[in-house]
Amino acid sequence: MDKVFEELSLKLRARYPFVYFLTWEEERALRGLKKLARQQKRPLWEWSMVAGLRRGRKAVDGSDSAEAALRHLAAEKDPFFVILKDFHQHIHRPEVARQLRDMSGAMAERSQTLLFLSPFAQIPSELEKDIATLELPLPGLKEVARLFHTLIKGENIEVDLDLFEQVVKASLGLTEDEIKRVYGKVLLRSGSFSREQLVEIISEKSQIIRRSEFLEFHPLNTSMEEVGGLENLKEWLNSRAGSFSEKARSYGLPQPRGIFLLGVQGCGKSLTAKAIADLWKVPLLRLDVGALVLGASAAEEGLRRAIRIAESMAPVVLWVDEIEKAFAGVDSGAGDSAGAARIFGSFITWLQEKEAPVFVVATGNDVRRLPPELLRKGRFDEIFWVDLPDIHERETIFKIHLRRRGREPANFDCWELAEVSDRFSGAEIEQSIIDAMFSAFAEDREVATLDVLRAIRQTVPLARTMDQAIKELKEWAHDRTRPATWDSRRVDYFKLWENSELESG
Ligand SMILES: Nc1ncnc2c1ncn2[C@@H]1O[C@H](COP(=O)(O)OP(=O)(O)O)[C@@H](O)[C@H]1O
Ligand SMILES: [Mg+2]
Repeated sequence: MDKVFEELSLKLRARYPFVYFLTWEEERALRGLKKLARQQKRPLWEWSMVAGLRRGRKAVDGSDSAEAALRHLAAEKDPFFVILKDFHQHIHRPEVARQLRDMSGAMAERSQTLLFLSPFAQIPSELEKDIATLELPLPGLKEVARLFHTLIKGENIEVDLDLFEQVVKASLGLTEDEIKRVYGKVLLRSGSFSREQLVEIISEKSQIIRRSEFLEFHPLNTSMEEVGGLENLKEWLNSRAGSFSEKARSYGLPQPRGIFLLGVQGCGKSLTAKAIADLWKVPLLRLDVGALVLGASAAEEGLRRAIRIAESMAPVVLWVDEIEKAFAGVDSGAGDSAGAARIFGSFITWLQEKEAPVFVVATGNDVRRLPPELLRKGRFDEIFWVDLPDIHERETIFKIHLRRRGREPANFDCWELAEVSDRFSGAEIEQSIIDAMFSAFAEDREVATLDVLRAIRQTVPLARTMDQAIKELKEWAHDRTRPATWDSRRVDYFKLWENSELESG
């Protein structure tokens, strides 16, 4: 049984008079509550504004109003367990609050408990000390597995064990009804469950998850093939592809925690962050810490909520883009950073202590503005340094973007383009292709290498104007980070070695 029901059962045995039970899923909660009442052999009553008070099938006349129902219950000497629906509508009325306070003493002695079932927590402050609050969590692994199992059995669909686990995990973060609807929709559309439907389930979820203004759900539409270079980083990510699975757990591997991508602007940090989720086939959530920090008073509750949602959807990639924009200068106490410092504190504490497989990908262009605690050991698995692309990487990036714009890279001299675009970022390479296409289009002809060469010549790469800043950052990164790119000399060395192998073979 769900942990929350175990907790409730403890509360009942400890004779709590009032329990506020938070949930959007009334049906599912009622099922669990009824089961608990049966197990504990407690007479179960229900009350709603429409049906009044009833014990089993027996209705109590004249108990439609909350006041009348409470009056009736106050006269009851025997133990009871009463579920009151939508009680947030009534609990604020002074008469109701007074009645509850008058009842509470005797109720504990008589093993009587009132449970307020409601989607909203609205407890009047005079009752706060008397009411225990519990929240029904979204369906967990076991529950979703049972749902999915029932479905595929009913439809006679074969699903291998790996896929079963992935579908179940992809469904986390939704209510039971939502899960049923998503499965129904996928089945209707595809008639089966395979790896493609996994992506479908994940993007269906994006339509549904709208419960946090600071959390944005991204569709999985960026693949690792769109990222040029950064082979060292890709290798690291590939080697951890299966590490969220139960298999990895029983093998004894720890959950991967997260990475920090530090480096030069426009070199593929955000792009890679998005591609990781697709590589691992897990949902991608972006946490807007900038907006959080601006949210001031609501910020801490906002962060807690965002984290709760992310954890309920785990395994998941949680992407925090340009983190320095939110937390710059936090420790120096500059400006009105007290709120930001609090959020920062909560955030790194969570980073350090989190147990759910939420893989945090933070990106940043400038660490010097960040509080040093962020990058201390234990927060991230690795800090990667994303440098300007070397010549090999530039060649690949040209090819990627030519292809993306419907051009065949073989028709271009990509090596020459790579040679002349020294110190260009990936973003600038992309822009030079776009510029070249505009020029050629204006002259009503097909774009060619020469157009791109001309566009490159007309561009002053940002790296040239930011030379000093990049140099300083690089120095900082030198012995604190892992390079995202293999040393190009190592690449050359491999090439030499490969060639000599070919020659001698
Ligand atoms: N390594 C790369 N491979 C392919 N495209 C790249 C690369 N780096 C940058 N780009 C292009 O530049 C755009 C901006 O890059 P982005 O990832 O946002 O940079 P940043 O490192 O500043 O986050 C990307 O969407 C992509 O089109
Ligand atoms: Mg970026």
